[in-house]
Amino acid sequence: MEQIKTKSIVLGITGGIAAYKAAELARMLIKQDIVVQVAMTDAACHFITPLTLQALTGKPVLTSSWGESGNGMDHINLSRSANMIVIAPATADFIAKLAHGLADDLLSNMCLARNCSLLIAPAMNRQMWESAATQRNIKQLMADGVIVLGPDSGVQACGEEGLGRMLEPAQLAQAVVAQFQPKLLTGTRVMLTAGPTYEAIDAVRGITNRSSGKMGYAIAQAALELGAQVTLVSGPTVLLAPHGVELVQVNSAQEMFEAVKTHVAGTDIFIGVAAVADYRAAETSTQKIKKSTSNLTLVLVPNPDILAYVAALPKPPFCVGFAAETENLKTYATQKRTAKKLPLLAANLAQQAIGADDNELILFDDAGEHLLPRADKLTQARALMNHIIKLKGIT
Ligand code: PMT
Repeated sequence: MEQIKTKSIVLGITGGIAAYKAAELARMLIKQDIVVQVAMTDAACHFITPLTLQALTGKPVLTSSWGESGNGMDHINLSRSANMIVIAPATADFIAKLAHGLADDLLSNMCLARNCSLLIAPAMNRQMWESAATQRNIKQLMADGVIVLGPDSGVQACGEEGLGRMLEPAQLAQAVVAQFQPKLLTGTRVMLTAGPTYEAIDAVRGITNRSSGKMGYAIAQAALELGAQVTLVSGPTVLLAPHGVELVQVNSAQEMFEAVKTHVAGTDIFIGVAAVADYRAAETSTQKIKKSTSNLTLVLVPNPDILAYVAALPKPPFCVGFAAETENLKTYATQKRTAKKLPLLAANLAQQAIGADDNELILFDDAGEHLLPRADKLTQARALMNHIIKLKGIT
């Protein structure tokens, strides 16, 4: 898989309240080993100071066409050395400029003079976003090959609610990184289950586990980066789904099972990362069960095994299982792979994997076992996807 180490981008910041989030975006991109050169419009400098961005990136921030390099050619030089220009936030005004090829400041000059891809993250009041002019301009930019990320919907700085919020920095960073990966899975449909399930006992109590969803969401991100069309069936988590996945939110194992059955047709690769509750309460109460002095017996019945169902379909997708064990990892993992007839299974120690930011995985396939030494979950996810690509013979 291509390393993104040597990639460099120009992060263009225009004048909107979401400009403060660009600082976090710059930090996240640098963490991914991307070289970030910031260029700001005059208006952006009213919302966040160039000094903040300079401190984060370690590079002088460009704000004017006049001066920095001394030859007035910054707009050409910078757009030639960058692999990508990312405008976050992109205001309605800047979008209008881009759509019409106007170039009256350094950033708009760079965009016009670029020979690399351009990504924009619109951020504005919902009415401005919905206006005929902005929609016309966005359509034009998309037709020109500009990649538009968002906007999202929610409460806005002005107090109104609707479409126009900039995507969160983490979602933008993921989308930028994804652009740099070879699109080996274009046209491939990947479905994942992730997170825990919640099995209700009564109106306020239930059975669940400590799965955070981090491993599954990281794999969804890694699959997206490779150009796959990703459906993420997720139990309850606090995580933001990567921008571009089809997210299906569920609570219980039965809901997860129904969602998988509904969406599985046409899936090429199915990955069961969810920590699905093996049992649910035989009966649930819609009211809160009242305390009493006598014992309370809870009868549990088994949940359907979602992965086993998918693997046993007449024409199953390439199925990847996970096994979280607290002991005898290799033995139990091998048993699970054999029982469900899986071409690949990723095993991890539950006490070290669940909820953690990093993980160690052992992959079991027909050729034997392969250790993925402890690393952050996105690195593990990319390595796992790479392994799947190799097993499927995709080049
Ligand atoms: O979410 P995190 O905090 O990042 O933690 C990640 C993780 C530890 C949850 C993850 O890496 C992991 O190991 N997931 C599988 C956990 C598990 O419960 O495995 P299992 O041994 O119970 O199940 C084996 C396989 O069958 C899994 O692929 C599971 O998704 C699937 N399964 C299990 C039961 C069931 N009813 N339906 C299923 O599909």
